[in-house]
Amino acid sequence: MLGGMNRIKLHQTSPEFSALAFGTWRLLDDPLTATPGALLELLKVCLDCGITTIDTAEIYGGYRVEELVGAALALDPGVKARMEIITKAGIYVPNAFHPDRKFAHYHASAARLVKSAEKSLRLLGVEALDCFLVHRPDWIASIDETAAGLNQLVQEGKIRSAGVSNYTASQFAALSSRMDQPLVTNQVEFNPFHMEPIMDGVFDQCQEKRVRPMAWSPMAGGRIFDTEDAAAGRLRVACAEMSARYGGASIDQLVLAWIMAHPSHPVPVLGTAKAARVRAAAGAPQWVLSQEDWYGLWEAARGHRIP
Ligand SMILES: NC(=O)c1ccc[n+]([C@@H]2O[C@H](COP(=O)([O-])OP(=O)(O)OC[C@H]3O[C@@H](n4cnc5c(N)ncnc54)[C@H](OP(=O)(O)O)[C@@H]3O)[C@@H](O)[C@H]2O)c1
Repeated sequence: MLGGMNRIKLHQTSPEFSALAFGTWRLLDDPLTATPGALLELLKVCLDCGITTIDTAEIYGGYRVEELVGAALALDPGVKARMEIITKAGIYVPNAFHPDRKFAHYHASAARLVKSAEKSLRLLGVEALDCFLVHRPDWIASIDETAAGLNQLVQEGKIRSAGVSNYTASQFAALSSRMDQPLVTNQVEFNPFHMEPIMDGVFDQCQEKRVRPMAWSPMAGGRIFDTEDAAAGRLRVACAEMSARYGGASIDQLVLAWIMAHPSHPVPVLGTAKAARVRAAAGAPQWVLSQEDWYGLWEAARGHRIP
């Protein structure tokens, strides 16, 4: 069955984004994308495919990826004007730039979130962030503190929407109770080898609140293509068997279609830095898996039938 790559809102109050987002975590791993010029070319490929949303974070690349993204966007104002940016804050680790930090820690106080968002605005070279996420729950920040920071950033026009990442359903509900506007997403790990969000209440809550989750590591960090991994092998065989029913769709397309088939409508955050793989991924939303095939990939990933 044919679907399509739509413009979406994470929540009715959020700006528009693309149904797939381009992730930037691993950009500095690959010398091909580690320069502003090379990254700009990759962003143009994303735009050609209808992928307009960049997912980044303060901590990526040892705090250097936001600067790279900002430098790439600065090279072409036309590209910059067509893209939305989602970034995250709240994880702080000691490294060469921050020798003053002794321990890795989460910090989601109001003041810390505001300081990080303002730094992201400077590095990315934008006036407002389309969405700003608390990267991980800070277990010792009160919900009043965290909400105060997000509310202030929205009020000041520095962020257009606020959300969270890696929150449990109860953490999401608790923070929501102190927000002046709804949290628009919970970005969590979701792929055939990490199905927790469909079991632990996170995706049920997203449906209840009409919030689209975002799915990070859609290819399980590359595990899906690991030829030494038995479960990955089963999944690839199942995809190969299904492919003919979906116009010859590739493994990555079928796995993305599997993710997007969940009724909470997750937005996969792509991890590849290869133009050809971005183009292939962009074809995934056209495929709507049948009920039986969705469970077929579940079975292949788990190695047993449904209970
Ligand atoms: N919120 C959070 O806590 C959190 C955590 C982790 C990640 N994220 C976000 O999610 C994004 C995606 O995560 P991820 O990088 O783990 O995604 P992923 O797509 O699961 O994994 C990416 C890895 O898989 C490889 N890969 C992807 N497609 C492939 C294909 N068709 N064939 C062979 N290898 C393939 C990539 O290599 P190539 O580059 O060579 O294709 C790369 O090494 C990140 O960039 C980041 O924006 C968020």
